[in-house]
Amino acid sequence: MTAPLKQSAPITVEVALGERAYDIIIGRDVLGSLGRRIAALRPGARTAIVTDHTVAKHWLAPTEAVLAEAGITTSRIVVGEGEASKTYGVLQDVCEGLIAAKIERNDLVVALGGGVVGDLAGFAASIVRRGLDFVQVPTSLLAQVDSSVGGKTGINSPQGKNLVGMFHQPVLVVADTAVLDTLSPRQFRAGYAEVAKYGLLGDAGFFAWLEANHAEIVAGGSAREHAIATSCRAKAAIVARDERETGERALLNLGHTFGHALEAATGFSDRLFHGEGVSIGMVLAAQLSAELGLIGAADVIRIEQHLATVGLPIHLQDIAGFRQEGLADADALMALMAQDKKVKRGRLTFILLQAIGQAVIRSDVEPVVVRDFLARKLG
Ligand code: GLY
Repeated sequence: MTAPLKQSAPITVEVALGERAYDIIIGRDVLGSLGRRIAALRPGARTAIVTDHTVAKHWLAPTEAVLAEAGITTSRIVVGEGEASKTYGVLQDVCEGLIAAKIERNDLVVALGGGVVGDLAGFAASIVRRGLDFVQVPTSLLAQVDSSVGGKTGINSPQGKNLVGMFHQPVLVVADTAVLDTLSPRQFRAGYAEVAKYGLLGDAGFFAWLEANHAEIVAGGSAREHAIATSCRAKAAIVARDERETGERALLNLGHTFGHALEAATGFSDRLFHGEGVSIGMVLAAQLSAELGLIGAADVIRIEQHLATVGLPIHLQDIAGFRQEGLADADALMALMAQDKKVKRGRLTFILLQAIGQAVIRSDVEPVVVRDFLARKLG
């Protein structure tokens, strides 16, 4: 029998946004402190927990229990899992659920789940009664290091990913690293792509540390907490400087312009998880950067090797069903990328790499260059 993992003191990362500042609490078993933290933050508040069926099986009862222990009344809204829930229809169900539960402005919505639940519940909170506060309790690695922090909420449009939404910051994020033990290896790896992203976009030392320590992050010891805290600190710093993405926050979209188009091309289905699209997207961004003379070939190989070593897809051909069902041609992918929120007056913005740890925002890449690049990668 293996020894239980040691519980160390939780790590607190502040997102410094003035009157909308909040803490991210990271650590093994911090879910147990959720009721106490909410009672201290918002005495007398009632809560509605929004979650999905899979997360509910593991974590709804424990979450309701810790809230009840702190004397907090809860109701629950359970949605289907996966990207298919980020729709107008499910948004309506969540809004109606919050109204039926009589959640008022001093109460709190608790988003218990991965990125889909966080985006959906946060968006519903932002519009019901013209704005309810919400707490993020992310249960996937991807949500703990990226989507629960920074206030991006929303749903998908049939025309593209995350095209309908709001900036609405949570009032608290509680990231229990032990809940990641119940993730499937594939889900865990998909979240890992976003961890690697922070090394690639701005911290070469962290990327080198990941190359040496990725197995320990999966194992769940203190390396996991360090990786999550480092990612959250990087994101919190960027969000504090550019909350509304008028400038440098776009760096956080490294790999996402390609990745979102690939998710759309695969119908937001299980063929490609978001993090897997980001992994392929980061490799495409690195390869395009090399073709434009920005980054050296050795760095591109290092990026490909690290992501492949952790078991992430790195080529378009790695997407499930690529040979049987195909994907889309280069023109179709260009059309999907044209719906990206970073498009300004018809010009695509790309996050490219000058080196590992040095990302740049570029709006001067000719569409024909990208189209030819994609046509070759698809071939
Ligand atoms: N996921 C990118 C951002 O929050 O800006």
